[in-house]
Amino acid sequence: MKVQPITLDIIREMRHVLSESAGYAVSLEDEIEYFDPNAAKSWYFLREPDGQIQSFIRSFTQNAEWSLAEIYVSPHSQNRRHITSSLLDNFKSAISFPIGHRLRFDISSYDLELNEVLAEEGFSEKRQTFLFFERKLDGSIQQLNYDTISAADSKNISEVLSHLHPVLEDEAQKWILSKTIRGVRCEGKIVAAAQIYESDDALEVNRFATHEHFLRRGFAKKLMEQIFHESSGLQKTKVYLKVEDTRLPAISFYKSLGFREIQDKRQTWHSRWY
Ligand SMILES: CC(C)(COP(=O)(O)OP(=O)(O)OC[C@H]1O[C@@H](n2cnc3c(N)ncnc32)[C@H](O)[C@@H]1OP(=O)(O)O)[C@@H](O)C(=O)NCCC(=O)NCCS
Repeated sequence: MKVQPITLDIIREMRHVLSESAGYAVSLEDEIEYFDPNAAKSWYFLREPDGQIQSFIRSFTQNAEWSLAEIYVSPHSQNRRHITSSLLDNFKSAISFPIGHRLRFDISSYDLELNEVLAEEGFSEKRQTFLFFERKLDGSIQQLNYDTISAADSKNISEVLSHLHPVLEDEAQKWILSKTIRGVRCEGKIVAAAQIYESDDALEVNRFATHEHFLRRGFAKKLMEQIFHESSGLQKTKVYLKVEDTRLPAISFYKSLGFREIQDKRQTWHSRWY
């Protein structure tokens, strides 16, 4: 079995394994769009003896500070530890990050083999556990009025989302232009905001926050109900998200809106600083 670089043609062949890794049906169009030919040299795959692609590694640069990497080795593969090490070796020799750059892998908390290999490779410096929550949509969602968001809201959106993690105004503007931001207003000002992504059968809530001066007034609930409504309109079957296990208010909030944790999708995030 030989580790080989991922090309655009290979991405087209990889849809099943990308979906298995993500836990939902990924959109092939999006996957092709994410494929950055300049970054491709650090993207690798491996074929099983039957010709099927069952494992891969890749990374996405988020900004100058950090990159998100993905490694997947089918639970049915023989010798998963060896495959994981081979993928990591090729990846590490093909890519170099600036000093201080953070590389993060998201690994199932229950995947002991992958967790062990990453620990051996020095990825144990920061560990966080993320819970995967899912809300099935049953079509009984009522008609709602949406607040429209424009580029003029960038500063406001960056302030609201920074309650979760720091977001620059430029980033907020880019997301507004790509139509991935949703929000609700109070007296004209955005007080709760979300960033969402669409896949074939689901909507992912990637960022979600209420401005700290507007908590417990039902704004997050209103926003999430808008997201449910939009998802139903797009014929999606579920809305899902990941949340750090330490974010207790958010966990209570999601449960109050009918989200359920899918326990076997719990992930431990391993980071390593260069
Ligand atoms: C989670 C968060 C978005 C909730 O926003 P909010 O606007 O205050 O939520 P709502 O007022 O709509 O609350 C709706 C329900 O959620 C639950 N809830 C919300 N905050 C809660 C808290 N701190 N403790 C317990 N339950 C809570 C309650 O059931 C609440 O209903 P109630 O007020 O009638 O009891 C907000 O706390 C926040 O921005 N947190 C920081 C960012 C974050 O962690 N985001 C999630 C990342 S994945």
